[in-house]
Amino acid sequence: MSAIATAFSNLVRSFVNQDSPEQPKRAPKDEEFQTLREMYQNAGQGHVFAFADELSTDEKTQLFHQILSTEPSWINKLADESINPKPKTEQAAAVLEPLPESVTASIIDSDPADLKSWFDIGLKEVSLNRVAVVLMAGGQGTRLGSSAPKGCYDIGLLSEKSLFQLQAERIRKLQELAQKVHGVEEAIIPWYVMTSGPTDAPTKEFFAKNKYFGLSQSNVHVIEQGTLPCISNEGKIMLESKHKVAMAPDGNGGIYKALITSGARENMRTRGIQHIHVFGVDNCLVKVADPIFIGFSISKGVDVATKVVRKRDAAESVGLVMLKNGKPDVVEYSEIDQETREAIDPKQAGVLKFRAANIVNHYYSFGFLDTIPQWMANLPHHVARKKIPCINPENGEAVKPTTPNGIKLEQFIFDVFPMIPLEKFACLEVRREEEFSALKNARGTGEDDPDTSRADIIKQGQRWVENAGAVVITDGEAFGVEVSPLISYTGENLEFLSGREIKAPAILEREE
Ligand code: UD1
Repeated sequence: MSAIATAFSNLVRSFVNQDSPEQPKRAPKDEEFQTLREMYQNAGQGHVFAFADELSTDEKTQLFHQILSTEPSWINKLADESINPKPKTEQAAAVLEPLPESVTASIIDSDPADLKSWFDIGLKEVSLNRVAVVLMAGGQGTRLGSSAPKGCYDIGLLSEKSLFQLQAERIRKLQELAQKVHGVEEAIIPWYVMTSGPTDAPTKEFFAKNKYFGLSQSNVHVIEQGTLPCISNEGKIMLESKHKVAMAPDGNGGIYKALITSGARENMRTRGIQHIHVFGVDNCLVKVADPIFIGFSISKGVDVATKVVRKRDAAESVGLVMLKNGKPDVVEYSEIDQETREAIDPKQAGVLKFRAANIVNHYYSFGFLDTIPQWMANLPHHVARKKIPCINPENGEAVKPTTPNGIKLEQFIFDVFPMIPLEKFACLEVRREEEFSALKNARGTGEDDPDTSRADIIKQGQRWVENAGAVVITDGEAFGVEVSPLISYTGENLEFLSGREIKAPAILEREE
């Protein structure tokens, strides 16, 4: 190791040991600041310090701490791999196949006895306090056109509930169900909410303001995922301002590192958690801690499982769960050619061959998450070319790009799938109308937007109350019933409505 590299690693160590989240960050001594600066200069990234001599002590401290733990030579390596990718020989030759039947099951055609058995197994685990949920809420709702965290978004339900509230209430209801069925005093499903730099503070404020939606604060852990510097098309670290590097969340694959660095994994260990359901914030129908999914995964004895829905049509832009070169994987929409996208299943006329759409609902055994440190560093980084507002390091002028001027580096949660032996991986197909309605686009898009989310929730509620024997009176746009998750987790407990007439749109907030 060179002298400067040794000085740098000592520097990082000394600050990491002193750092405590509660205490203000200590201002670096001149020689400490200089060591970091030299490290960046040696790596050809010295422009990050272009304005250092005109910064106040406070600004210098901010810059220092923002980049202290980012080793510039590692960023150079990632930048080089992104800008000059190796020829895609392996990619071109990739053999894509649907998952074999041995690792898949479908809610749609499963034996009702299996569904009941999976539900019972899962609910029992909930009652034993062995199930945790991890929500990935670190993405920024850029496409949605909102600057607030997506979880705070009100999709226009009569109750005005946010996505966070819907999820919290499903957790409360499931805890209550487990308590009732298994006669335990308190069933707890701890909830780990992963945020990122931009969503962390507003998420914490929103939870506090809403008193954790009736959950105990001690069972809700907001954990922050990591960030990575944005890099220019020339591989240079970009500056947001004279004392700030432009940073972006490290992708939903950042969850693995975040579970370790935040102490969440240790918290799970202390609590005796065995099963973890991970999902994304942007699905208003998510069945949080779904006992069927947990029970299915336990029955199959797998380390990792994933839920899929049937792809809407060949054009839907979703990732597909399949075998890639014999290993379980997700192939994103942009990575497959038209012929593969449109291929028809030779066994079922008119049905797509590759139809298992990834809905970002994954199961992990605790034993598997315990191995994260062994493979965390091997997860690849993907390149997202974006318009990144920045300043020109030569003159400090603001740049507001109209075309992509830089790269955000992201890890993907499913890049761990190929590491799982096929016998330790399973896939469960679920009903789209019951479990998946994505919130991606701004209102008025007509697809995966707040209006489609709202409609999907109230159509589901309408189906549930009709199944329970109620008659719903609809009239054109006046349709749907919003059933509070505090009344029913998945359509159960609605018999009291049998024979009742309900005029849509309606809301059932209490059993009466
Ligand atoms: C994702 C899936 C895609 C799937 C689609 C279904 C990945 C990489 N891709 O695509 O295969 O078909 O959802 O809707 O999983 N997130 C973070 N931190 C980040 C980035 C994202 O927490 O740094 C969260 C988001 O809040 C969101 C979830 O991860 O809840 C999905 O991420 P997003 O980047 O929006 O992926 P999509 O492109 O929608």
